[in-house]
Amino acid sequence: MATVTFDKATRIYPGSTKPAVDALEIDIADGEFLVLVGPSGCGKSTSLRMLAGLEDVNGGAIRIGDRDVTHLPPKDRDIAMVFQNYALYPHMTVADNMGFALKIAGVNKAEIRQKVEEAAKILDLTEYLDRKPKALSGGQRQRVAMGRAIVREPQVFLMDEPLSNLDAKLRVSTRTQIASLQRRLGITTVYVTHDQVEALTMGDRVAVLKDGLLQQVDTPRNMYDRPANLFVAGFIGSPAMNLVEVPIADGGVKFGKSVVPVQRDALSAATDKTVTVGVRPEHFDVAGADSDQGLAVVVNVVEELGSDAFVYGTATVGGESKDLVVRVGGRNVPEKGSTLHVVPRAGETHVFSTSTGARLSD
Ligand SMILES: Nc1ncnc2c1ncn2[C@@H]1O[C@H](COP(=O)(O)OP(=O)(O)O)[C@@H](O)[C@H]1O
Ligand SMILES: [Mg+2]
Repeated sequence: MATVTFDKATRIYPGSTKPAVDALEIDIADGEFLVLVGPSGCGKSTSLRMLAGLEDVNGGAIRIGDRDVTHLPPKDRDIAMVFQNYALYPHMTVADNMGFALKIAGVNKAEIRQKVEEAAKILDLTEYLDRKPKALSGGQRQRVAMGRAIVREPQVFLMDEPLSNLDAKLRVSTRTQIASLQRRLGITTVYVTHDQVEALTMGDRVAVLKDGLLQQVDTPRNMYDRPANLFVAGFIGSPAMNLVEVPIADGGVKFGKSVVPVQRDALSAATDKTVTVGVRPEHFDVAGADSDQGLAVVVNVVEELGSDAFVYGTATVGGESKDLVVRVGGRNVPEKGSTLHVVPRAGETHVFSTSTGARLSD
């Protein structure tokens, strides 16, 4: 077991001037499950490949425990990686696939068999050990790839979008299995995904990247409750947080016909005449068409989920039309084309600088 440290680690690909990963700084605790998340091209795989030793590091350092591994070859890092395409050997049985790395390392046959059988038991693969990968389902192949990493008992697991080849339902059950397996084994894990739901549900902490730059590292709860900037606010949460540019008023911000109180400090930190207020869909109070409060939202689409519903509507804000999403109770669903008046619930607003995107409220 070991900690992992990205110490201003930078990767600039040959022929490029802009770093694909720019001075990445994360301290990962022993046994922690850390998820790297962000849109396609933000530098997730590059970060993981630098830790694996598959990509040169052009600045800064990477440490596993107190070993500086920045320039060590992959085989000397004591890590095991699970790739998106699993990279199983098609001509080998499941058992041989799982034991292959140990065989290369010169471990004796009896010990390999024992480790493979232990891992197979954990992963529910015992009855498939003699099969070839092509005779397995997608979920089983995914577990073989996990098994191959587990038998090596590495200090660190690295996983790059390991669920992206599974169908939606299997992805949900497998993510729970991987998270609970990781907790049982207690092996420090760095997991890459572009899916923010996967990130929030699996990670002890989540690191959000954008354009090679780390935006925030935090627990899933803090990431949701206190996004550090407009990018994280819009990226984490589904449906996304509503982000509305509003004028600063006396004692708060002007939200349609209402003045919504927000922290005084947040407004004194603002350097613009407006701030951008973030409100999650579940944090609006909703009144009917005859209300004289808040913003008038014309309902375009209602997505019913049984227990509740998401209302997708349009409001006029600062002379421009703005799409908003509002969660309402399932027994209280408005008609398409009707008008709602919405007011952000006090204490549930997020205030950001419109120009810099930085969070201004606590
Ligand atoms: N081998 C490479 N050579 C040059 N540029 C690359 C290479 N691999 C990735 N990149 C670029 O680096 C950036 C980050 O890529 P990557 O780490 O693969 O992102 P992600 O995994 O988050 O989708 C992208 O702009 C990508 O085009
Ligand atoms: Mg990638």
